[in-house]
Amino acid sequence: MTSDLFAHVNSKTSSKEHERDVAKRRHDELCAQLRHHDALYYQKDSPDISDAEYDRLRGELLDLEVTYPEFVTQDSPSQQVGAKVAAGFKTVRHAMPMLSLANAFSEDDVVDFMARIRKFLNMPEDLAIVVEPKIDGLSCTLRYEHGVLVSAATRGDGQEGEDITANVKTICDVPHRLVNAPDVLEVRGEIYMRKDEFMALNASQEEKGDKVFANPRNAAAGSVRQLDSAITATRPLRFFGYALGEVSAPLATTQDGIRTALKDFGFSQAEPMAVCYTVADIMAYYHRVEIERPDLPYDIDGVVYKVDRLDLQERLGFVARAPRWAIAHKFPAEKAVTILKDIVIQVGRTGALTPVAELDPITVGGVVVARATLHNEDEIARKDIRVGDHVVIQRAGDVIPQVVAVVLEKRHAGAIPFVMPQTCPVCGSHAVREEGEAIRRCTGGLICPAQAVERLKHFVSRNAFDIEGLGSKIIEEFYRDGLIASPSDIFTLEARDKTSLTPLRVRDGWGELSAKNLFVAIEKRRTIALDRFIYALGIRQVGESTAKRLAAHFETITAMQAFFATPIATSEHPTLSLDELTSIEDIGVGVAGDILAFFVEPHNQDVVAALLQKVTVTDYARPQRTDSPVGGKTVVFTGTLVKMTRAEAKAKAESLGAKVAGSVSGKTDYVIAGDDAGSKLAKARDLGVTVLTEDEWLQMISGRLDL
Ligand code: IVH
Repeated sequence: MTSDLFAHVNSKTSSKEHERDVAKRRHDELCAQLRHHDALYYQKDSPDISDAEYDRLRGELLDLEVTYPEFVTQDSPSQQVGAKVAAGFKTVRHAMPMLSLANAFSEDDVVDFMARIRKFLNMPEDLAIVVEPKIDGLSCTLRYEHGVLVSAATRGDGQEGEDITANVKTICDVPHRLVNAPDVLEVRGEIYMRKDEFMALNASQEEKGDKVFANPRNAAAGSVRQLDSAITATRPLRFFGYALGEVSAPLATTQDGIRTALKDFGFSQAEPMAVCYTVADIMAYYHRVEIERPDLPYDIDGVVYKVDRLDLQERLGFVARAPRWAIAHKFPAEKAVTILKDIVIQVGRTGALTPVAELDPITVGGVVVARATLHNEDEIARKDIRVGDHVVIQRAGDVIPQVVAVVLEKRHAGAIPFVMPQTCPVCGSHAVREEGEAIRRCTGGLICPAQAVERLKHFVSRNAFDIEGLGSKIIEEFYRDGLIASPSDIFTLEARDKTSLTPLRVRDGWGELSAKNLFVAIEKRRTIALDRFIYALGIRQVGESTAKRLAAHFETITAMQAFFATPIATSEHPTLSLDELTSIEDIGVGVAGDILAFFVEPHNQDVVAALLQKVTVTDYARPQRTDSPVGGKTVVFTGTLVKMTRAEAKAKAESLGAKVAGSVSGKTDYVIAGDDAGSKLAKARDLGVTVLTEDEWLQMISGRLDL
């Protein structure tokens, strides 16, 4: 009997356990699916399920978490609601301002620094200074409460930064928990990428056809600012601590003590570190690190000197936004000498011919440099750079390597001055320099394969059509083999492949699955947001932000096409269209001219028309600003404004999230009528639209008038 009873209880428990196991597995599945859909929706603007389907998955997840509260972890998609809706990052106010450092560039500056401190403290005796490398990354503050990492933020303006907690939690050397820490402990430090890991990341980005970064700092910054922490997690980020923010109990009495305490908590420290007492000590350290610099695993841009005693740091305090007790001693840009083997001409997407130096590979700052930009022909002439010369290469901060000078003493007799070609090395078309321009451009347009290929690469790139699996190498291959000549060909690739004698799956390096994946990736992008579409066209000077502004202005592809079709067809009012374009914030005459020049070209019109046969462009989704009194409202200006120009009024309204329309309709929220307002005012009255004077409008946007 007893044993029967037990059997019953046992079977009950095990069936419960089984149920729980099944539920847990389903929960894990749902988490993965929702994360995937969140990423598609929020980072790529391209969901592949309906909102209703998404809500159903989410509802199921929430139900499971009600039944099994233990499934709720901090990283469950159910906990991500806040972060999910934010278009960017939330801002956090720093408990203590995050400061920057003053710079020293010479020994004299160091002498001044030491003298200033002694004078300020009235301390003639020896003063201990902690010295350590200044690692080139981005500053970050970590807040621990009761030993648990509760938030991480960027420096921002020093008072407020961006909340990057989720991303920072993916960094391997940021501890999530501290043992025996004070109740409140803020650790300040730098997020960075090691040089070797940066190179590996770039190699894999290039392979995938994704963005490559100019240097480890940009790569670190770009990775930290990912909206999807799953992407951040794949990036080799690291952190070291260099100072404290708010602390509820002191950790140490010296800077050196802080280093030790932070090390004990598990934070890495910048090395090599030393304690110096005199300017001579400091300069010896500076030169030592300068020599070791190329061999350090991370990029450094100088060394930092900090008064060791914290009580003295406290007395010294701050000037403006930097402490008096510390200074950064910057290194000059890293240089090396090598031989210029050749000057080759690269042709970019907009036809710009850029001379590029081919170098005997050399290590500059831990990175092997084999090519460097020579900018343009004037630069080459100014520096008198000739093939065969020994040249000084520099890798400074955030730029690609440059040739700074020629070592003239080593020039061979017979070295001949460089002559820029007058024709495009790729298509043979004339390459011309416009008046006042330093750049020579190929006039071949789309018949120039170099431009066509570069445009295609741009077209499929991450912030444009973002077609996964269609990287630079594949674009080159497909172009060469005549599979893709123009953007719209991408969208007919699959149909053509079906009847091809040599379908993709039988090509070298391809198989059934990879071919299918590529077609799926292309299919996914048949619908695209207007701003991405505009950006993808690769119009000269139209980057992402200009594309967004154009999209916000036109709202629909139809409106945009109508705009570009009319003046172009009649050529009657070229200046009218220029006026309209330049009324858009941040678009000047130069950019507007390039935009018009693009649409005037028949071959560009053909490209756009062919594309629109194949893809659907969705209307621009105006971000709703809730903090602005006119966010999302449609306004019309009419008559003569006195306090500002029409352009200024329009720019201001748009910057506040309003849409400025040219004519009054039922959709108009406000008409702002200046002097001598005519028919638009009459129409507004007819339609019962609220009419404001210029002053009322100004009061309203400054928040002083509520309507
Ligand atoms: S100490 C009160 N130490 O350089 C500020 N900063 O240019 C204390 N940095 O904002 C800063 N390495 O982001 C310190 N070893 C180091 C550093 C370092 C890099 C950064 C830091 C700072 C910036 C100033």
